[in-house]
Amino acid sequence: QLNILVDTGSSNFAVAGAPTPDVTSYFNTEKSSTYKSQGTEVTVRYTQGSWVGVLGTDVITIPKGINGTYTVNVATILESENFFLPEVKWHGILGLAYDALAKPSSSVETFFDSLVSQAKIPNIFSLQMCGAGMPVSGSGTNGGSLVMGGIEPSLYKGDIWYTPIKEEWYYQVEILKLEVGGQNLNLDCREYNADKAIVDSGTTLLRLPQKVFNAVVEAIVRTSLIQTFSSGFWTGSQLACWDKTETPWSLFPKLSIYLRDENSSRSFRITILPQLYIQPLLGIGQNLECYRFGISSSTNALVIGATVMEGFYVIFDRAHKRVGFAVSPCAEVGGSPVSEIEGPFTTADIASNCVSTVTFHEPMLWIISYALMSLCGIILLVLIILLLLPPRCQHRYTDNDVVNDESSLVRHRWK
Ligand SMILES: *[C@@H]1O[C@H](CO)[C@@H](O)[C@H](O)[C@H]1NC(C)=O
Ligand SMILES: *[C@@H]1O[C@H](CO)[C@@H](O)[C@H](O)[C@H]1NC(C)=O
Repeated sequence: QLNILVDTGSSNFAVAGAPTPDVTSYFNTEKSSTYKSQGTEVTVRYTQGSWVGVLGTDVITIPKGINGTYTVNVATILESENFFLPEVKWHGILGLAYDALAKPSSSVETFFDSLVSQAKIPNIFSLQMCGAGMPVSGSGTNGGSLVMGGIEPSLYKGDIWYTPIKEEWYYQVEILKLEVGGQNLNLDCREYNADKAIVDSGTTLLRLPQKVFNAVVEAIVRTSLIQTFSSGFWTGSQLACWDKTETPWSLFPKLSIYLRDENSSRSFRITILPQLYIQPLLGIGQNLECYRFGISSSTNALVIGATVMEGFYVIFDRAHKRVGFAVSPCAEVGGSPVSEIEGPFTTADIASNCVSTVTFHEPMLWIISYALMSLCGIILLVLIILLLLPPRCQHRYTDNDVVNDESSLVRHRWK
């Protein structure tokens, strides 16, 4: 039995294919009569950690619900760095984002695309992640559900609110506004989508672009009833501890994220209470309970990670290119809900588009970096040729503008 991380922020299905000190359970492909290796090596890098593996296919069955066998791509991980951590008890990852993010290329059909086309289930899945108010154990055993092919009514309360998927790679959405304790942060709405806003179950915290992060921390400090707070708490290097008999949550404000509704002249807001972002850690002090800040800063994205997702039943409605949010019944601490959804609100006061149209996607960055590397290589080659040329020859070339005339240089060399 292998534990698999359900990740809506990547697109490869991969499992440990060899034992390591941290991973003793693994998929031994030699023992599968249906496994076929493609022989291709693949590397996948995440915000944290990376692995190298081999692409292959195998036949799967889904134990509940749909009958049948399906052939899917599965990468077997042979080497990894910071991926299988000692305290994290997972042995693989199920990437549920779009094929645009699949490695080494988008031609590697994703697990969910294979399932939709072979099992003929609707192109929609949904996630309920539980664990609100419970100690962060790192093992991900607080429970939850992944529903493939539809929506399960018992996993949510009230209405489902949908926001459009801006582009199908990550689950990229458009954030219009942030409020701390009911106060608008009042930043240019493009700051909230710099350079993208995504819904990612594989990210633990709520990650905010640096500028937004600073504004949120300042607003929390201003609104909270705590007089002095070490800056290390906000940056994640320190914990804050309280006597076990009291909880600190009443001291902190609510945090609301406004998302564009399907009707673009409306928005709705998802709200998390401090129970979700001031997170208890497992057994540190004797009489003290210690907490970490569940929000961190990011250089390249706003990430609606597990910190927020634990408040909601989240529906990835790929068929209609939208992500839905509804209040989750398991998002309760001490019998009280720790998340809220309200709407609709007008968007009259907000720009008609908060998402920059010039987003630099990874493949594009790679092309640019390869082009630059090639250019460096050519320049280096020219320099080496110059160094190796006999003095008389070198003389001849110094009369020319060598750097601007690489082709003639190469031609002469061949003569
Ligand atoms: C799956 O197959 C089993 C045994 O053949 C059958 O009893 C069951 O009803 C089937 N389930 C579905 C959803 O088709
Ligand atoms: C969209 O929302 C606006 C404002 O609430 C409303 O006037 C309009 O009728 C809505 N459009 C549709 C197509 O529902």
